[in-house]
Amino acid sequence: MITVRELLAERLKSALDAAGFSDITPEVTPTADARFGDYQANAAMILAKQRRMNPRQVAAEIIQHLAVDDISAAPEIAGAGFINFRLLPQFLADRAQEIVKDDRLGVSDSRQPRRIVVDFSSPNVAKPMHVGHIRSTIIGDTLVRIARFLGHEVIADNHIGDWGTQFGKVIYGWKHFLNREELAANPIGTLVGLYRKVNAAEENDEALKKTVREELVKLQQGDAENFAIWQETVKLSWAEFEKIYGLLDIHFDAVLGESAYNDALAPLCERLEKDGIAEVSEGALCIFFRDIPELAEKPAIVRKADGGFLYATTDLATIEYRVKHWNPDAIWYVVGAPQALHFQQIFLAAQRMGVSAELKHIAFGSILGEDRKIMRTRAGESVGLDDVLNEAIERATAVVAEKNPDLPAEDRAAIARTIGLGAVKYTELSQHRMTDYVFSWEKMLSFQGNTAPYLQNAYVRIRSIFRKLEAPFDPASATISVNEDAERALAIKLGQFAEILPLVLEDFRPNLLANYLYELAITFHGFYEACPVLKSEEPVRSSRLALCDLTARILRHGLGLMGIQCPERM
Ligand code: ARG
Repeated sequence: MITVRELLAERLKSALDAAGFSDITPEVTPTADARFGDYQANAAMILAKQRRMNPRQVAAEIIQHLAVDDISAAPEIAGAGFINFRLLPQFLADRAQEIVKDDRLGVSDSRQPRRIVVDFSSPNVAKPMHVGHIRSTIIGDTLVRIARFLGHEVIADNHIGDWGTQFGKVIYGWKHFLNREELAANPIGTLVGLYRKVNAAEENDEALKKTVREELVKLQQGDAENFAIWQETVKLSWAEFEKIYGLLDIHFDAVLGESAYNDALAPLCERLEKDGIAEVSEGALCIFFRDIPELAEKPAIVRKADGGFLYATTDLATIEYRVKHWNPDAIWYVVGAPQALHFQQIFLAAQRMGVSAELKHIAFGSILGEDRKIMRTRAGESVGLDDVLNEAIERATAVVAEKNPDLPAEDRAAIARTIGLGAVKYTELSQHRMTDYVFSWEKMLSFQGNTAPYLQNAYVRIRSIFRKLEAPFDPASATISVNEDAERALAIKLGQFAEILPLVLEDFRPNLLANYLYELAITFHGFYEACPVLKSEEPVRSSRLALCDLTARILRHGLGLMGIQCPERM
């Protein structure tokens, strides 16, 4: 289905062509204030500026050629030259009717479907998955879901950190300090403990440092014992990660850790050198970016003087692999902002290697504790993701018990899970990804404001209307009418679901979807207060019921695209 935005933009384009202004592609956007109509266009202002003309006059000229009387009341000129559109009640009713009957809720497939690799979550083995990874995991997952819904072909790839210098310490610790019982009870915690213990012991002990480094070299050279230990740590860590992914309902199409690219690193470096992309400098093989001022002093090192490979080397090999095996149009990396330089470097290097896929670093800021510093446990360690999720469920259990003490116990546990996990995800997704946000239990579990429980509750309240009906209701058979202001406002919002989703992918901003759903819920409450539903006469009653049903479907589907479920009661 074409959206209102697209439809008005098309009509505007024809008017511009007819008026002799064919050199711009006009944009139509929803207005922020209903006094200025429902949609507006700024084309006249842009044109007037280009041609040094009076914008209101240009607007008047455009309007003369504008044929929209099946969509909107006569367009008006406002302010410095905006063209405003007020949608006709019949047009809104017809559209709502169509959306009610549409399984896709009015959302079209992308006209340019692409194949996209999304690199997200990517925790490190023998290190805990901390709340920093939560941002990558949750943002990445929602981008995957939205891209798929819009008809793109997505390969979700978890690039786990299963190969790195940490393994020297882990293997040494494993050989000297491992407690098997502890390992069975708490695998990641134990591995992290070994890592920390060796890390601390090494600090003032050069001899130990050397031994630890030798363990790493042995692993890299394929020593059987060290390799077996490494394998076990990967297996144990992955099992823990999987528990978290299961809880969060997150799935990957590929889990190709850094280790998968090991054998490709040496030949890659040779090729880079042979092709003149990299050069040896002070013994290390480097890729220089002399033509880019801010990178002039910052080469990417791909092979150290001692022959060791680095994070950048692995990432370049990974890009080659992805291009060769999947031939994607784009690769999206959902990774924290501190890695911006790394991605800038490897993207430039990949270009030189002839990679034409679009490479995007989708960065994000930090999660702060209530003291506004990077969130840490009392012991000063980064907070484990599993602890956060368990606490969310626990706290939600208390909230649900208080709100609805009559719920049967088994329902209560399931609902608390849905609310707790939804709250954590929504908190993440309702922020602009670059914002450092304060993690507040109270705020995220509140039933007021822009929160998951508020939206879930809006859904539950709509569903409860339908439970009061004497007979099953079929929204598709209702004739929708849109007369009251509150009905208009709701019908317009419902149509905007299709407009918001492509925008989310334009700049990777799931918060646009969250804000949309929040506004939808508010608009719905306004409608429900102003317009009686069950108590009104037919055919208005059925029309309003159909609007209620559509609101619930969009709330559920929209939250679903964020990986958040809706309970039927709460
Ligand atoms: N494992 C890395 C970390 O925890 C993130 C990897 C991101 N993906 C990539 N292709 N570099 O920092």
